[in-house]
Amino acid sequence: MRIAVLNCGGDCPGLNAVIHGVTCAAAELDWEVIGFRDGFEGMIREGGDYMMLTPEDTQGIIKLGGTILGTTNKGNFAAKQGEGDVAKVPAEIVARAKQTVDMLKIEAVVVIGGDGSLTTAQQLYEEGWPIIGVPKTIDNDLTATAMTFGFDSAVSCVVDGLDRLYTTALSHKRVIVLEVMGRHAGWIALYGGIAGGANAILLPEIPFDVEKVADSIKERDAEGNHSTLVVVAEGAKTEDGLVLKCQNEGAEVRLGGIGDTVAARIEELTGKETRSCTLGHLQRGGDPTALDRILGARFGVMAVKLADRGEFGQMVSYQSYHVGSVPIKEAVSELRLVEADGEVVNAARALGICFGD
Ligand code: F6P
Repeated sequence: MRIAVLNCGGDCPGLNAVIHGVTCAAAELDWEVIGFRDGFEGMIREGGDYMMLTPEDTQGIIKLGGTILGTTNKGNFAAKQGEGDVAKVPAEIVARAKQTVDMLKIEAVVVIGGDGSLTTAQQLYEEGWPIIGVPKTIDNDLTATAMTFGFDSAVSCVVDGLDRLYTTALSHKRVIVLEVMGRHAGWIALYGGIAGGANAILLPEIPFDVEKVADSIKERDAEGNHSTLVVVAEGAKTEDGLVLKCQNEGAEVRLGGIGDTVAARIEELTGKETRSCTLGHLQRGGDPTALDRILGARFGVMAVKLADRGEFGQMVSYQSYHVGSVPIKEAVSELRLVEADGEVVNAARALGICFGD
């Protein structure tokens, strides 16, 4: 048997661990593994753009961030074309990719992707492709899996950032606003903020009023806490619905800039010196944490198991400490968002963290 593996969408620490898991588990079954470069795009390049993967080729990559296969979140297979718009991959493109799959006699395609790429994977499955999905996103916003690899690494990066900002904010009695990733879901901001000791956390799921954030900073000042750390998710919304976008070029809307805006308003309202810092792609880069390495490798091994059982159209999923599977369709039907009145947010409130609401 010969199977293919590819990853598409934004990269994510732990992708290489999945590739390693797929390759090793397939080798155990005496299967061959083809890794397509740059996601599905590798399938429509002349003759197919791919590399054969053996366990020797993937030795040591479990610890590396990024992906040895390359990836893209744009191009012919991008399912998300703007705010909430889902695009179908054109029939002519699918046919070209299918030609490569047939030519190479591939019997299963393992697609490692987030919400957008899994939407593409579901379309192909419905068109008869032997697809297995593996969930991937630092945002941790896929329903039907309790956790995606990459999230823990991103949170660790936020915590490291906050630990550094804490000492400088304290020394200067300043407010520092840290903008983090999190398009629709604020999991990175919430977990990173709690673990990194943030005093205010602003999420897409809880519209905020900057005046309430300013009031909480003034209260802290009056109590003798002269520095404050604010974490804001890039997709956070003000109560009047403002979301900051930088660009939208035939792909998902690019977010960014809310940190600067929030910092300027806080300075205006509190009179306190305020700085802002954007963590950006530092959260996606670098080596995966131990948790993400293990999760990624287990996901890769499970993907091969599903292919072996012929369970196509399924996505690997992590629930109650077990790796199992669910239909891809279920996984992409809705996003897993932070519950505004859920246990984690309430725990954060009990710690004195302000959500600006
Ligand atoms: O979806 C994952 C994510 O990291 C989002 O949090 C962020 O908005 C987006 O990717 C950034 O993508 P790009 O690589 O296109 O800047």
